[in-house]
Amino acid sequence: MNIALIGFMGSGKTTIGKKLARQLGWTFLDSDGLIQKKENCSIPEIFAQKGEVYFRECEKSVLTEVAELKKVVLATGGGLPIGEDNWKILRQSFFTVYLKAHFDELFLRITGDPIRPLLQKYPTKNQLKELYLSRVDWYEKAHVIIDTSQKKLERIIGEIIERARPFYTNQN
Ligand code: S3P
Repeated sequence: MNIALIGFMGSGKTTIGKKLARQLGWTFLDSDGLIQKKENCSIPEIFAQKGEVYFRECEKSVLTEVAELKKVVLATGGGLPIGEDNWKILRQSFFTVYLKAHFDELFLRITGDPIRPLLQKYPTKNQLKELYLSRVDWYEKAHVIIDTSQKKLERIIGEIIERARPFYTNQN
């Protein structure tokens, strides 16, 4: 089985995922990285040239591939857990961890980042907050919710390992 980190842009999925994988001795993968490799194109380029619908198909296809693997920590793109199709795969093959943070904190982390094409689609703080709010119910379907606000990286990782342990020790 695998672990999937989910949450809005800026929630620390990649940073936490890399360190978590190292501590568990598992492989770290991230859905955006896999898509870029497959398409030989950056995420903003995929959005600009082929559109968001195409990008979402790529997300589903890499998720399906990773689901076949074992002992992977997957950092998912912020939109990947939106929709029942991807959730079916997540539920079946991953222990899912929602990295929850206050919207204002997330906004500060992501604002002005050129590698996030959705910031062009939702250019104001209010629009982005609407997007965040529309996704929360999907994120909250995760097996565990870890509140990352004001917490050190080590503590967040410790909490994930503690909560996930019964799951992965049963599966091995
Ligand atoms: C997206 C989040 C991004 C990336 C793409 C779309 C989203 O990943 O997949 O720009 O829909 O929230 P991060 O959450 O890693 O920034």
